[in-house]
Amino acid sequence: MDRPLVIAVDGPSGSGKGELCRRLAASRGLHLLDSGAIYRVLAFAAREAGLALFDEDSLVQEAAAMALSFSAEADGVHVLLGGRDVSREIRTEEAGLNASKVAALPRVRQALLQRQRDFRREPGLVADGRDMGTVVFPDAQVKIFLDASAEVRAQRRCSQLAAAGRECRYEEILADIRARDERDRNRPVAPLRPAPGALVIDSSALGIEQVLEKAAAHVGALGF
Ligand code: C5P
Repeated sequence: MDRPLVIAVDGPSGSGKGELCRRLAASRGLHLLDSGAIYRVLAFAAREAGLALFDEDSLVQEAAAMALSFSAEADGVHVLLGGRDVSREIRTEEAGLNASKVAALPRVRQALLQRQRDFRREPGLVADGRDMGTVVFPDAQVKIFLDASAEVRAQRRCSQLAAAGRECRYEEILADIRARDERDRNRPVAPLRPAPGALVIDSSALGIEQVLEKAAAHVGALGF
């Protein structure tokens, strides 16, 4: 039997993946998996429990035990940990860096695999992450890798912060992005890279509409 459709979208933070995935899922009525949020929540839960972010045994236990759920609200998807809304707390720069530390641990990734695969349900899933097309859903029917230069991604993050009325220190953001890229691209397990057969889109000079157009054309060309 055919397995439910998966559109796997991978790429670094700030490439526009989140927005692309939300738009693709909404326009086609598909489920959405924000896999980064899972790593963010795990790091957040670990910090709250006083665990060190390199204590792999304890993190694996926490990964299995944590009561994580997503709830679709009018203003977007909220992330709940044990019923408590932690959506804001997990979106800080620090939470992103902490997520990339726990995400570098092989047994932690293994412990989170099934949780991610469980999102594959009819009528289909748009999966947003770093290893959706390579590891979590290697048999995804559609694979896309969205990239952009570190400078453009830092600029976009600054614009988001400014829009939220928050301060932006461009040089610090750029350094954080480079540190996270370095860790994500060079880790031994599930490094960030395009899956074989993925359509690679460089969004450095493209707006979201153009990215969406290219992605939708690719999905359509594959017959979905
Ligand atoms: O996508 P987001 O910025 O929320 O992800 C936070 C961190 O989680 C990433 O920097 C990456 O280290 C890790 N991650 C991962 N694999 C995924 C999704 C996120 O390693 N599929």
